[in-house]
Amino acid sequence: MQRLIPTLRQDQVAEGLISVINTLQICAKEISFRLHQGELAGVLGSTLDENIQGETQKKLDVLSNQLLKDILLENKFVRAVASEEEEGIVDGFSDGKYLIAFDPLDGSSNIDINSMVGTIFSILPAPTDGTEDEAMFLQPGSNQVAAGYVLYGPSTLLVFTTGKGVRVFTLDQKVGEFLLTEHDLEIPKDTCEFAINMSNYRHWQPEMRHYIDDLLAGETGPRCKNFNMRWIAAMVADVHRVLCRGGLFTYPWDCREANKPYKLRLMYEGNPMAMLVEQAGGQAHSGEQRILDIQPQHIHQRIGVILGSSNEVDACLSYLQGSQ
Ligand code: F6P
Repeated sequence: MQRLIPTLRQDQVAEGLISVINTLQICAKEISFRLHQGELAGVLGSTLDENIQGETQKKLDVLSNQLLKDILLENKFVRAVASEEEEGIVDGFSDGKYLIAFDPLDGSSNIDINSMVGTIFSILPAPTDGTEDEAMFLQPGSNQVAAGYVLYGPSTLLVFTTGKGVRVFTLDQKVGEFLLTEHDLEIPKDTCEFAINMSNYRHWQPEMRHYIDDLLAGETGPRCKNFNMRWIAAMVADVHRVLCRGGLFTYPWDCREANKPYKLRLMYEGNPMAMLVEQAGGQAHSGEQRILDIQPQHIHQRIGVILGSSNEVDACLSYLQGSQ
């Protein structure tokens, strides 16, 4: 089985980008090791703090963030990093070629129940026109040169794209190396599976409720087929299932807080997942536009997400646009 670096060379990935992806996999192995040690490493549970999004921080959120930040910022190709756990960007090398946005530990409320979590990353080119600070990151997702995630589950997987399909590497714990186990993931166009947090039903737009009602109506309803539902409550794991066997994943607009109608973040959740999903032949939409076309306004921007099997994303959008 092929190792990571030879696969990247075969895909003719630029040396600087190979170096950044290599650094990310080093961090991933370290985080994976701590996670698998669980209680033995004394890293489970919460800190007394909240992150800048107002969410309780897990000890492992803090540790993973610190690890990624420290190790990435030693790489001379890294211009700056942006993290879910940091209010502003953190500068690296002034002549670095890449910007890395990451969610160090997505789905971290799953840690304490020994369920799946992951690290999501998005790599953008650093602007060469003198743009500085946070403005460097405010590029549409279509500019990403690579995107991916590490899924810490029964096996640790590194799933990423550099724009030439979606590769899956599995961490071989015996040799401590990521080995290529899937060359080109492809999402089936049709699906009978969806993922949504149903407990928010009463907060959705009527059009989204109508779409879900019709899925639940099954084969005697207007969709004429039975649908199954799955919700792992870690985007990284739910999207991984969609990449492996198709499905529709959505975290839609919700009316609870007028100034915070969305949960998921564009720069380190929506964009990297959208690039992966499109590379695997699926679609990723905010409900208003293709996610990869969104011009970000700030690094912690939130958006609606509807992604997965192409025909099902179209079906969902047709309800939202009122044509059903
Ligand atoms: O980043 C937020 C996140 O943990 C996602 O990974 C996941 O899809 C979602 O929130 C889970 O939301 P909820 O708590 O509503 O199930």
